[in-house]
Amino acid sequence: MNPRHFTSLLDLSSEEFRGLITRAIELKNNRDPDYQPLKGQVLAMIFEKSSTRTRISFDAGMVHFGGSALFLSPRDTQLGRGEPLQDSAKVISSMVDCIMLRTDKHETVTTFAQHSRVPVINGLTDQQHPCQLLADMQTFFEHRGDINGKTVAWIGDGNNMCHSYMHAAMLLDFNLNIACPDGYQPLPAFVKAAGERVRFFNTALAAAKDADLCVTDVWASMGQEEEQKQRERAFKDYQTNAGIMSAAHSDALFMHCLPAHRGEEVTAEVIDGPQSVVFDEAENRLHAQKALLEFLLCNN
Ligand code: CP
Ligand code: NVA
Repeated sequence: MNPRHFTSLLDLSSEEFRGLITRAIELKNNRDPDYQPLKGQVLAMIFEKSSTRTRISFDAGMVHFGGSALFLSPRDTQLGRGEPLQDSAKVISSMVDCIMLRTDKHETVTTFAQHSRVPVINGLTDQQHPCQLLADMQTFFEHRGDINGKTVAWIGDGNNMCHSYMHAAMLLDFNLNIACPDGYQPLPAFVKAAGERVRFFNTALAAAKDADLCVTDVWASMGQEEEQKQRERAFKDYQTNAGIMSAAHSDALFMHCLPAHRGEEVTAEVIDGPQSVVFDEAENRLHAQKALLEFLLCNN
């Protein structure tokens, strides 16, 4: 039987996504050290890009569940010397129980999944960051209840996080207001698929109006460091600041996947202020991914 993969949020049904959120909250609130459903199991974590949260949360999550995680960087494996992805996927999946991959090209993750005999998890690509959305949605549910029918404002780059927010809007039925500068819009295929769940605005202020959640991300993602100056100019009117938050509902939350650049995409006043839940969001990477690992490795 083909394993269940998590290369995109759209690998889940709405019901499964909701189930993972409920389970993540349960795991967070009732930690039982004797519950070790992944005893003896191994997660291979292939990181072609830097990470703090993703690496630590997957590693700690595996240990909590009685298993272990291997950190593999292309510098120390044959992947970095051009061993074909298909061969690597076959070999690695013959020795471990699950593979997590953080890389630039989304196709690298889908190719790995095609050739792997164990579940493959997308730990971020240039196109999508589905694990982060599990944590973000868990955080919203914990603070405000169901997100169904609510309004989320995405302000900034139409990047991997924005694409995964579009998927979450489709699965959990919320409205996503997007404000991105010209030339930095999400990819047309994602816009088309999201249909009426997504609306575009010309200014950050218009997108934030009556929002229940304001979200942003860095202006230059990993791999775009050389575009930093050009992007600072393009994004200067797309900062989430107190003015933007005051256009949203008075109880609106602020989220950011982190790492953040205070003074660029968000002011210190907002990210360190009372509406910000960024550190709950970061912690929830652990709980949400434990729910995901359990779902992929124990339910099938
Ligand atoms: N948000 C996130 O994925 O963080 P890391 O890059 O530290 O893993
Ligand atoms: N958009 C960012 C997210 C980092 C977690 C990046 O890809 O670098």
